[in-house]
Amino acid sequence: MQEIKITFAEHKKVKPGIDEKLGFGKFYTDHMFIMDYDINENWHNPRIVPYGSLSLDPATICLHYGQQVYEGMKAYMTKNNKILLFRPKKHIERLNISNERLCIPKLDEKFCVDAIKKLVNIDKDWTPTKPGTALYIRPFILATDPYIGVRPGEKFRFIVICSPVSSYYSAGLGALKIYVEEDYVRAVKGGVGFAKTAGNYAASLKAQNKAASMGYDQVIWLDAIEKRYVEEVGTMNVFFVIDNEIITPELQDSILSGITRLSCISLLRSWGEKISERRISINEIHEAYLNGRLKEAFGTGTAAVVSPIGLLRWRENIMKINGEKPGPIAKKLYDVLTGIQFGQIEDTFSWTLEIDACC
Ligand code: COI
Repeated sequence: MQEIKITFAEHKKVKPGIDEKLGFGKFYTDHMFIMDYDINENWHNPRIVPYGSLSLDPATICLHYGQQVYEGMKAYMTKNNKILLFRPKKHIERLNISNERLCIPKLDEKFCVDAIKKLVNIDKDWTPTKPGTALYIRPFILATDPYIGVRPGEKFRFIVICSPVSSYYSAGLGALKIYVEEDYVRAVKGGVGFAKTAGNYAASLKAQNKAASMGYDQVIWLDAIEKRYVEEVGTMNVFFVIDNEIITPELQDSILSGITRLSCISLLRSWGEKISERRISINEIHEAYLNGRLKEAFGTGTAAVVSPIGLLRWRENIMKINGEKPGPIAKKLYDVLTGIQFGQIEDTFSWTLEIDACC
């Protein structure tokens, strides 16, 4: 196992105050992890250094052709001042799945989890303590060789930065207003929709702007071929409760395999709920709404946690769900999931990993 060289920041930044609004992605901690790859040395030179700018050649491949992948995971401060990472191994496994699709060399999963533990331990005082907050951890990889031409990079840089955050959506646990998008699509079979790569998010901006200009928080993405089957909501996976069935679109290569999605499915199964991973069309949702059978809708994601959906607009149809209030299933999932993440509810699934002092 390679040794991680540590250079501490000489000047620490001013941390946000306990009552300061953290928002999402506004503040960054004092240090970052970096590791390089080239064909001869494989992944090498792992180091933790003061947080700072990157110097890249203007011809760097990732800047022109988007060869990039990323992850998003969180660390939580418990009442006893312990720090828990939530499912870090699953996140790095998924990073490697994205790597494979984007022609980026595989990472050693155990080494990366250990590196993240070390980084978070060094910057642990940045972990916010208020309910609904966390230290968001952003590992990402860039192709760094300068080359104007489309081919996979031969040099890469793996970087991890951390940011204290509160809720991603300003609605918090309030209910989101969502626009069902039929002009633009996010991903298509055979594409990169299942990978966490920048291009998927760049492709979503136009529809997101359109929805925002009409007063909606996010869009529902439909399948790119028939524009009929629901895939995701903005930056989240999505669930619908119709009668007593909880439905989430089954995974395919145009849908991100969310780790919060997976955790919610496990929780729902353990509670004996009827949970189906299957195709669900927007017509089925609308029909259930008209018949009074659409009880709840909510999104799930690392950043978004569990975010209730209060209103859906599909063409001229406005569907107000559960009186535009968070429903009982979304609330229970939010409470139990965050209870496990903050160490307040026993973690019978072994999802959390404590950062011990030795890191
Ligand atoms: C996450 O949920 O971690 C994401 O990567 C979504 C991003 C838009 C913050």
